[in-house]
Amino acid sequence: MHENVEWIMLSEEQIATRVKELAATLDRVYEGHKPLVVCILKGSVVFFSDLIRNMQTTMDVDFMAVSSYGNGTVSTRELKIKKDLTEDICDRDVLIVEDIIDSGNTLYALKKLLIARKPASLNIVTLLDKPQRREAPIEPDYTGFVIEDEFVIGYGLDYAEEYRNLPYVGVLKRSVYEK
Ligand code: IMP
Ligand code: MG
Repeated sequence: MHENVEWIMLSEEQIATRVKELAATLDRVYEGHKPLVVCILKGSVVFFSDLIRNMQTTMDVDFMAVSSYGNGTVSTRELKIKKDLTEDICDRDVLIVEDIIDSGNTLYALKKLLIARKPASLNIVTLLDKPQRREAPIEPDYTGFVIEDEFVIGYGLDYAEEYRNLPYVGVLKRSVYEK
């Protein structure tokens, strides 16, 4: 275990099992369709890679990088697009793949932006959900794990851009960020 990890919340095995279940569910959902599966960079990259490799569905993939800034209130939060999709999503079945939903502000703004481009459908799958922290009125359509309000790292998730390559999801030691 990494020295800055307090405890392992989700082991590699637990994640792998759940990802397979989600992939099977999504295969059923998209049967007869060819979804555009969108990886939200950077945090989702590991989950996305495992998820799509467990899906049988014929699909296209695309990538987007966003961040949300605001002055505190949900309604005034703005989404900054750091990297936009390359595909036109009009009339496409779009599946957004997220790492974690926390306040929900990022995803709320992103969903609004993508809906304006008139996809045939738009679903959200997230590996992790921290519902206790929600500020924006948004819920994922499919969730890997509902977790407690802890700051987690690994399996794509970072703290100051580090730890994304840990193969498990762990709780970051408070001593790392409370100095
Ligand atoms: P929000 O839902 O708009 O608050 O932001 C979600 C984003 O915040 C995620 O995509 C992550 O990049 C980041 N985030 C939220 N909680 C955590 C965490 O526990 N560990 C690492 N990143 C997190
Ligand atoms: Mg992120």
